[in-house]
Amino acid sequence: MLSWDEFDQPEEGAAAKPATTAQPQAAMTLERLDSVGDAAAHEARAIAADDSDAVARAKAALNELDIREGLEDLEGAAARVRVDEKRMINCRADLNQLVPFKYDWAWQKYLDGCANHWMPQEINMNADIALWKSADGLTEDERRIIKRNLGFFSTADSLVANNLALAIYRLITNPECRQYILRQAFEEAIHTHAYQYCIESLGMDEGEIFNMYHEIPSVAKKASWGLKYTRSISDPTFDTGTPETDRQLLRNLIAYYCVLEGIFFYCGFTQILSMGRRNKMTGTAEQFQYILRDESMHLNFGIDMINQIKIENPHLWDAEMKDEATQMILQGTQLEIEYARDTMPRGVLGMNATMMEDYLKFIANRRLSQLGLPEQYPGTTNPFPWMSEIMDLKKEKNFFETRVIEYQTGGALSWD
Ligand SMILES: [Fe+2]
Ligand SMILES: [Fe+2]
Repeated sequence: MLSWDEFDQPEEGAAAKPATTAQPQAAMTLERLDSVGDAAAHEARAIAADDSDAVARAKAALNELDIREGLEDLEGAAARVRVDEKRMINCRADLNQLVPFKYDWAWQKYLDGCANHWMPQEINMNADIALWKSADGLTEDERRIIKRNLGFFSTADSLVANNLALAIYRLITNPECRQYILRQAFEEAIHTHAYQYCIESLGMDEGEIFNMYHEIPSVAKKASWGLKYTRSISDPTFDTGTPETDRQLLRNLIAYYCVLEGIFFYCGFTQILSMGRRNKMTGTAEQFQYILRDESMHLNFGIDMINQIKIENPHLWDAEMKDEATQMILQGTQLEIEYARDTMPRGVLGMNATMMEDYLKFIANRRLSQLGLPEQYPGTTNPFPWMSEIMDLKKEKNFFETRVIEYQTGGALSWD
């Protein structure tokens, strides 16, 4: 705990150096305080006889500082922002003024994300290390699942983080959404850390795992499908503001939030969590469980952003764009079905590729309806209802019975 009491004590030697602008504390109006403060700051800038040449040059350079510089391209930057000026994209109001909030859902997700903070090293990996290193602890099919998933996820979260930082952050023109995007970007770094931590703990060949997105076709196809959407808008000269460029941003958001984070993660999460349910690789499964908890919030944030952009820009969401969005979801589902077949050539852990295909179609229907689009796989049901329970944070408690699973900071979430 920090103690602030010590800051009340005068610093050693402070008494010997009275401040040059010290004033009696009584009877000073706010205006007078402003003017005294301003004069004192100005005095500090004056070059003193004992200033070195370097210090004198630094002070002189600040005399040239134009406080308007960098703000002139923001209309209304000098004014206080009104809620009705705020917009998801192409907003011209000052983006450095976080409040007043317009999108409470974005700020709430930022708070929830912070309350769910966790770190990979907090999870005990000892049982996993013993099992992974024992000759007959795991079947070849189970080993394949673990390696393929660490291969896919160890780079997939970097792709998501890069897309956030290099492509969408500057194009989403709303400070409360940007605040969540920064939180999400840190969570993606934690996820990459978690995969690295698993790979290192298990003593895997790091080169082999981190290169799977180049070398294993079912992994590489998913990565390159996502990368082309980053490429299209990460050019520094790219900007939104026309229907076509606005749609390009929308395509990127659908690709990353709905397909990468909303479909591409689901086969792997289901496989690893199923392993944990069978008391195998429980540390790895627990890492994935925390990640899934974060990812379901990323997905919901993305859906909220996309739907808000649609509300504010209804002309973008025409028949052609709806068809394109549907096609993207269907392509993503197809790639994930191929990944399921490649990672599960035969039945394992009480599941098989056909059951996973049903599950992915169920997930795809859900993504489509979240975007307000018609479902494309009628009559599909969820073969893994336990996955929904894991995602329901409030119900979740001590899933693998390895340790108390609740972890929160800030005391904002109630788990009972
Ligand atoms: Fe992630
Ligand atoms: Fe994510």
